[in-house]
Amino acid sequence: MSTTNRVLIFDTTMRDGEQSPGASMNRDDKIRIAKALEEMGVDIIEAGFPIASQGDFEAVQAVAKEVTESIVCGLARAGKADIDRAGEALRPAKRKRIHTFLAVSPLHMRVKLQMEPDAVHQMVIDSVTRARNHTDDVEWSGEDATRSNHDFLCRCVESAINAGARTINIPDTVGYTVPDEYNALIKMLFNRVPNIDKAVISVHCHNDLGLAVANSLAAVQAGARQVECTVNGLGERAGNAAMEEVVMALRTRKDHMPYTTGIKTEMITRASHLVSTITGFVVQPNKAIVGANAFAHESGIHQDGVLKDANTYEIMTPESVGLRKSNLVMGKLSGRHAFRQKLEDLGYTLGDNAVNDAFKRFKDLADKKREVFDEDIVALVDDTVMRENDRIKFLSLEIICGTKVPKPSAELELEVDGVVKHTKALGDGPVDATFNAIKQLTSNSQHLQIYQVHAVTGGTDAQAEVTVRLEENGKTVTGQGADADTLVASARAYINALNKLLVKREKSAPAAMSA
Ligand code: KIV
Ligand code: ZN
Repeated sequence: MSTTNRVLIFDTTMRDGEQSPGASMNRDDKIRIAKALEEMGVDIIEAGFPIASQGDFEAVQAVAKEVTESIVCGLARAGKADIDRAGEALRPAKRKRIHTFLAVSPLHMRVKLQMEPDAVHQMVIDSVTRARNHTDDVEWSGEDATRSNHDFLCRCVESAINAGARTINIPDTVGYTVPDEYNALIKMLFNRVPNIDKAVISVHCHNDLGLAVANSLAAVQAGARQVECTVNGLGERAGNAAMEEVVMALRTRKDHMPYTTGIKTEMITRASHLVSTITGFVVQPNKAIVGANAFAHESGIHQDGVLKDANTYEIMTPESVGLRKSNLVMGKLSGRHAFRQKLEDLGYTLGDNAVNDAFKRFKDLADKKREVFDEDIVALVDDTVMRENDRIKFLSLEIICGTKVPKPSAELELEVDGVVKHTKALGDGPVDATFNAIKQLTSNSQHLQIYQVHAVTGGTDAQAEVTVRLEENGKTVTGQGADADTLVASARAYINALNKLLVKREKSAPAAMSA
């Protein structure tokens, strides 16, 4: 059993999270997320899967250059090419880890790998040995470990440690296990693997049955000291254990689970919004910790109780996860200096160009909207900064619609690869006309799967945050856009999704890449 109570947080938002259908991150997105995670105190950042594409290789390399405090990790299957590619991408990192994995369940070995257990066992040893040529910090994962044969799992774990793995990950790849079973599995490893004290035991839980966080906590109670998780619970299929839930459960229930993490919990809300904006995955309102309603009290009885003593219905404070009271920021008379100060208070460190662009949009917004809140600034800045390197940029939109117009029309101006383009299109409604105009100026092979609007704050002058999901040849991307004008926000969201599609066209995952 482990002797330390410190639980390492291994974030895989940029690897397993990016494997969510529709989620994609480019190099700059990954740098932004990595910096936020580092600032938050994440111990290990899994930045990607370098062999998956040239883009992912470069993203991992860029993160490796930028991040100095956290360990930067790259994923590799068990083959030499994968491992060497990960080693190469991680070369600039101050602190680096190679995470190599191989399936260990009878089903995966037979069907996916088509290998006998002895050959798999040998490959575990060879892959860890190879990874050790690149770094001392090697993590080995036994994919689908929760459906494996225990004798075989123990054998592989022992050999991986002997070959030099310092971290052993026991993934619940298909989200199949339940808390007491997973707890027993981890205890079994502590009891049966003779060299287990030479490695940190890690857990990686998928959320197919909604048990990822509960399973992760059960494993910590059994001695695991690394939890692999993602911001907002992003990840393959139903996602991974949500980092904010794991961390806040450990913090809030210290009486029951006496473990600590290095996470500055006050940065949780900011990280959640950043990941949501970059991926276009909207956080459900009732999502634990980071949902818009997580700290909202609607019923009179609850409101009355909270006003008398917040402990009546709040087990943690909104401030502990970085939620501030809705602050009225500034109006149209506020200057650049005050705006820059506000950005710093909200946790942004931006270059001059980004501040100037955001300030211009803030002024436009303040002209239209009587009250500008922190939430407005966050939505606006994320929307501006995230678009800096986009190939397609929104310039202007004019809509004519209403009951007296036979068919709504949209007049649109975009910049595509540096060239300003202009068009006019008709549609069945103003949104349809806007999207038709965009399609005229760009490509037309994508299909709209989802179109959603939500208000950033209350009031009829609230900014709209629009989410658009596009599909092309089986690949999906999700874009977001914010603006006081819902149609402009819609255009921005569609264009954001198109930019991601351009990136996705360049990327293609290698065969047999798994959960
Ligand atoms: O779910 C899983 O098994 C994985 C491994 C690569 C760790 O993501
Ligand atoms: Zn996974």
